[in-house]
Amino acid sequence: MENRTNLKDLQKPVVLCGMMAAGKTTVGRNLAAVTGLDFVDLDKEIERREDKSVPEIFTEYGEEEFRRLERQVLAGLWQEPKIIALGGGALQTPEFAEKIKQHSLMIYLNVSVSILVNRLSGKKNRPKLRNADGSWKTGQQLQEYIRNLLSERQPLYQKAHIIVDIDKELSPRKITEHLLQKIQCYAEQT
Ligand code: S3P
Repeated sequence: MENRTNLKDLQKPVVLCGMMAAGKTTVGRNLAAVTGLDFVDLDKEIERREDKSVPEIFTEYGEEEFRRLERQVLAGLWQEPKIIALGGGALQTPEFAEKIKQHSLMIYLNVSVSILVNRLSGKKNRPKLRNADGSWKTGQQLQEYIRNLLSERQPLYQKAHIIVDIDKELSPRKITEHLLQKIQCYAEQT
């Protein structure tokens, strides 16, 4: 993979946003490998600092506290250029999304509902995919949930400087190559 854009010249972090299972972590790792920048996965960083998994944090402290941790940990990360993969709900409010945009090159991996549902079916590691009775969302229920959550979050994701539309399964390598081209175009225009 060729990197013609020196992301270090951007002098700000590259922040990947999008729904759960959009591929933020995989693409983020690839981008970091190509550019030589450090990679931070926000969920993993929270887990490391709290010494608890994301599901444990949701169960023990609740979602509000998890969101507070996201804001707190993220605020300490954007001093230097690096690649950051956010959790799917990390943008939280228009004001916060705007703030992230000001401090970063923000990229939205806009993956179609059908691909997301396909990737998330049978996965039991994301607390947002549990029903109130503890069971896991499946089939039609999962599809409706993801569709509604996406339309709720879409206005925040759409604030990104660069949007990559993904409506068929492509290898992370192809997506990263495509993204590098988009970053190159963006860098030339600004
Ligand atoms: C969440 C997405 C997860 C994680 C948490 C909540 C969400 O991250 O932060 O389970 O609200 O969409 P990924 O997007 O990396 O799965």
